[in-house]
Amino acid sequence: MLTSFSKEVSESFIPKIRDEWKMAKTKNVKGIRVMEKRTFRIFRYDSSKNESPGFQSFEVPAEKGMTVLEGLIYIQDNLDGSLAFRSSCRAGVCGSCAMHINGKYCLACETQIFALKSKTVTLRPMAHLKVIKDLFVDLKPFWEKYKLIKPYLMPGEPGPERERIQTADDRLKLEGLIDCILCGACYASCPVGETHSEYLGPAALLKVNRFVQDSRDNAEEERLNAVSGFDGVFRCHTIFNCQEVCPKELDPTGSIADLKRKIIGKKFGLSKIYK
Ligand code: SF4
Ligand code: FES
Repeated sequence: MLTSFSKEVSESFIPKIRDEWKMAKTKNVKGIRVMEKRTFRIFRYDSSKNESPGFQSFEVPAEKGMTVLEGLIYIQDNLDGSLAFRSSCRAGVCGSCAMHINGKYCLACETQIFALKSKTVTLRPMAHLKVIKDLFVDLKPFWEKYKLIKPYLMPGEPGPERERIQTADDRLKLEGLIDCILCGACYASCPVGETHSEYLGPAALLKVNRFVQDSRDNAEEERLNAVSGFDGVFRCHTIFNCQEVCPKELDPTGSIADLKRKIIGKKFGLSKIYK
């Protein structure tokens, strides 16, 4: 529920942003707008109604630099206010606008319409998740799996008086592991999730590796045990979709391989080889 403050903000501030955006769209450096029509073919479904899902097409006037998310906002503002999708930051930071765009999971706010090199922009919601409305899915299973892996530091000892110090080398081990924005693109792109709904999925497993590699965490054994079972790392078929779609160029497949090596190393007393 909106508080009176947030209601006030949403009523006064958001329309203002949209007006500014529209005004900005009317100008470019030469003062000439070059518009080209693009067809947005969007998956439509409303789980609260007893209707079959289908696709609906909208004509969007697009110009250089315009993103798919801006196209969706245009449709919502001008053609069909009932269109549902998620977005927030519009800067590739919050991870809320991941969707299937012309055959690939991407962030709508980072995907420029002209870069798709197609007159048609086909949009589908993320797979393996229940569609609530149109491109808006129920992310509960994704967050439940994330919660299961305990995504926080477990130092296992009282904290020092000041911060826990890391060496530069320790910090370096976290490169490529800490930039996940939890967009779920990897989760939706992984075909294993379709046949095995309990599989933890690439995002949660990458996060496990992020804590296993962290010198300030002391729960390696607990973390490895938690992902060595039926729904954990060995469920991964190394298909690489997650690596291909990640908008932050992270490597969940690599993290899963690291975790597998560690688990095998411990089980067979080969920890010196499988570090
Ligand atoms: S690993 Fe990449 S694709 Fe997966 S949730 Fe994180 S940012 Fe998104
Ligand atoms: S709106 Fe935040 S990542 Fe796209």
